[in-house]
Amino acid sequence: MESPEQELGFRLNGRAVVLSAPTGERLSEALRERLATRDVKVGCDAGDCGACTVLVDGNPVCACLTPVHQASGREVETLSGLTASEPLASLLATSFLKHGAAQCGICTPGMLVSAVALMRSNREPNSVEIEDSLGGVLCRCTGYRKIIDAVLDACGANSSRATANWSGSVGDPIPRLDGKFKVEGTERFSDDVGPPDALLVRIIRSPHPRAHFKFGDLKEFAEKREGIEAVFTAADIDGRNNFGVIPGYSEQPVFAVSASRFRGEAVAAVVGTRAAVSAFDEDDFPIKWDALPFVDAMEAAVAEGADRIHEDRRENILCSGFVRTGDVEEGLFGSCVTVEGQFDTAFVEHAYIEPEAGFARVADGRLEVHVGTQTPVMDLESLESILGIDRKNIRIVPTGVGGGFGSKLDISVQPYLALAALKTAKPVRLAYSRTESMQSTTKRHPAEISMRIGADKDGRIRGIHFRGRYNTGAYSSWGPTVINRVPVHASGPYAVPNYFAEASGIHTNCPPSGAFRGFGVPQAAIAQESLFDELASKLGLDALEFRLLNALDNGVPTVCGQVFNKGVGIKQCLAALRKHWKAAKDEAESFNRSAETSGNSLRRGAGLGAGWYGCGNTALPNPSTIKAGIRQDGEVVLHQGAVDIGQGANTVIPQIFAHALGVPVASLRLVGADTDVTPDAGKTSASRQTYVSGNAARLAGEALRAKILKLCNASSDAEFRMRPGVVEVVDGMRSHLIDLGRMKADPDGYVLRAEETYNPPTKPLDANGRGSPYAQYGYAAQLALVEVDLALGTVKTIRIVAAHDVGKAINPLLIEGQVQGGIAQGLGMALMEEYIPGRTENLHDYLIPTIGDVPPVETIIVEEPDEHGPYGAKGLGEHALIPTAPAILNAISNACGVRMTRVPVTPSRLLEAIKACSNE
Ligand code: FES
Repeated sequence: MESPEQELGFRLNGRAVVLSAPTGERLSEALRERLATRDVKVGCDAGDCGACTVLVDGNPVCACLTPVHQASGREVETLSGLTASEPLASLLATSFLKHGAAQCGICTPGMLVSAVALMRSNREPNSVEIEDSLGGVLCRCTGYRKIIDAVLDACGANSSRATANWSGSVGDPIPRLDGKFKVEGTERFSDDVGPPDALLVRIIRSPHPRAHFKFGDLKEFAEKREGIEAVFTAADIDGRNNFGVIPGYSEQPVFAVSASRFRGEAVAAVVGTRAAVSAFDEDDFPIKWDALPFVDAMEAAVAEGADRIHEDRRENILCSGFVRTGDVEEGLFGSCVTVEGQFDTAFVEHAYIEPEAGFARVADGRLEVHVGTQTPVMDLESLESILGIDRKNIRIVPTGVGGGFGSKLDISVQPYLALAALKTAKPVRLAYSRTESMQSTTKRHPAEISMRIGADKDGRIRGIHFRGRYNTGAYSSWGPTVINRVPVHASGPYAVPNYFAEASGIHTNCPPSGAFRGFGVPQAAIAQESLFDELASKLGLDALEFRLLNALDNGVPTVCGQVFNKGVGIKQCLAALRKHWKAAKDEAESFNRSAETSGNSLRRGAGLGAGWYGCGNTALPNPSTIKAGIRQDGEVVLHQGAVDIGQGANTVIPQIFAHALGVPVASLRLVGADTDVTPDAGKTSASRQTYVSGNAARLAGEALRAKILKLCNASSDAEFRMRPGVVEVVDGMRSHLIDLGRMKADPDGYVLRAEETYNPPTKPLDANGRGSPYAQYGYAAQLALVEVDLALGTVKTIRIVAAHDVGKAINPLLIEGQVQGGIAQGLGMALMEEYIPGRTENLHDYLIPTIGDVPPVETIIVEEPDEHGPYGAKGLGEHALIPTAPAILNAISNACGVRMTRVPVTPSRLLEAIKACSNE
């Protein structure tokens, strides 16, 4: 039952406001929906993430935990008001831009508001005070260090990041081009675009991991409740009630039919007014559940006689994949030293601060879906199939994306929004709660890995045997992609003459596992890099020198038999760490000597991790197309459909295009992803956008440049300037003017245009998994220094040094951001993150790193140009995370002599292992 509304008034951003709201309504809800203050973001509705932080009488509070009536008579300030009137906010916003402290930007309003509150009381805070003041706001993208740097800089304490008049050419560390909206709070994310009076959708979900269910009288239910307009189930789907991201694996239902396969699976959708849907108690929904036995462990799922999760999948196995080269048994048998181990990893939640949301309507007879997505064209194709309507009647308009990391490659809210908008012919909105986001969307695959590695007496690897089972949950999602990618990468970036690696995806009654930064590779790297340390130790070799001895190089075949003649940069990454490695080891030894002498329980240790990652799809086409045009007035327009989820495509792709064309990036007008106006730039996944879409942008820039030069027979190294209505071309001593106003414009208004496609040159894998699965790899090596408390089992990361081969740094500022953000996620995977269905379905039970958890990170950019990348550039997003967890695990081992083989390394697990070790 909804509470009666009561009138109240307060000052909002300096002006008096009066509104009526039910008692108990959240301040965040009132600000966003009644007062159009959507710079206040909602990430959890539970006070865990701090995205909704506002100032009430100058004090930072979570607006989601504050009843609106508590604001009565008080002063409420949000980022949009502060930006307009508070000089400190402008100072901070400028500094956030300069330092790259906003990536996706969903946490940025909460961060900036908290920083303003700090600076009003303390104009010279140190980093500890900044961490304390911003500690209530979570960020999943940046790794926090740039945020700390930005606040220090705004306070005049850190101006390490110089500003310059960059043209935005390739190599220039310009601030992100879409950053202004993020730091001013005007970026429109997926729940910011729908009108407040749109209908709301609420999804009814299975409360059981496995159950049969029966609906009661849905018609009567809808008719009897005021404000409820409709209830939809599988019976209302006019096309296919199934979807999937990989051809041949499209079995996941939009709505389950009579049986659910995981907790949180959708079975129905209720659509109604905001008031009716908000007040609706799900216990009143007419459905009867019959809970069934379920399996959540892979061992049980593949046991003889286990219930099938899908009738057509033998032994609950989704798929398997392997790579074989040489003779692994002979290689291991002939090894002088061998090591082996079993490793276990957990479900990891993406935990972007923006839960899935969107808005849909029918406009001019066509369906429009505005949604935060990593893959608009695939969304369109999925809706075409589900709705049974022609794709030309569907438009996907990506909104700002408040973090994705792989999970927003899958559809979530899209079909429910589309169905409700089409069937009711009214605008509809849907925003997942934090809990339903965590219950229903994809996760990182938990893995059970067994691995053996052997080396000769000189330390050269002779053989690797790897077997990994990956818990793919109830449905396929990107499981087959993960399973294909893992065997190719499980060797790490090393030369291995004898190799067998096999991975399998196992169905359980868990949420679907899918794409998550690294696609299965981080789990494999934990096993391989841990065992490398064990092997080096047995051989009496230094861990860094052992890796260098075995590292891949130009001309040395990978385990797939692929040979790169240039661009293999793992040796350079490892070599770049050498002096830091020695310093970290010395520091740990010195610290431990003092600790032992003083009898305290702290021990320090240094550890290394390395990794590689093939950019783009595994041995499959994945083209991108970029379009550009010049108008009669001289404006250069770039249509770039590579969705920016915070990683920087909105900046890097224009930089590449502008460089190729030969104009400053500031002269471009950018048209972002929209299936009506931008060609398909493919998915934002697999670290492919800088490489693949970047190459399409380079080709488009070059093609447009060639057309301009051809108009005046200028040579290829001529320079030109865009002026209003004119292109001025200077070719040596000659100068030409091209009068654009006299040229005929095409239907899009362009007098000159170019549209170019790039598809990476890959080759299919053969029966042994050998071939050329990727046209390029990126390489990385990281060093972690940690401090272990032997008495408590806690681990504190002191610092990380990260060397990354990016081929060519298109934008070094954004590269640092990607590296630091990836490291924070790797640290979370190593030490704290474990999704357990039914137990850690919110952000206070599921822990992600806070501002106090991420140590200083030194980023070393290595540039070994790639043969195919634009100007030599390689992808980066996934690589940043892969070495982090193994580096931390190796550092823990170095600190306390305990080899942890299960992540996350929680204090209780480590303490147990320390005790077991000391009892041996
Ligand atoms: Fe902080 Fe994305 S920039 S959550």
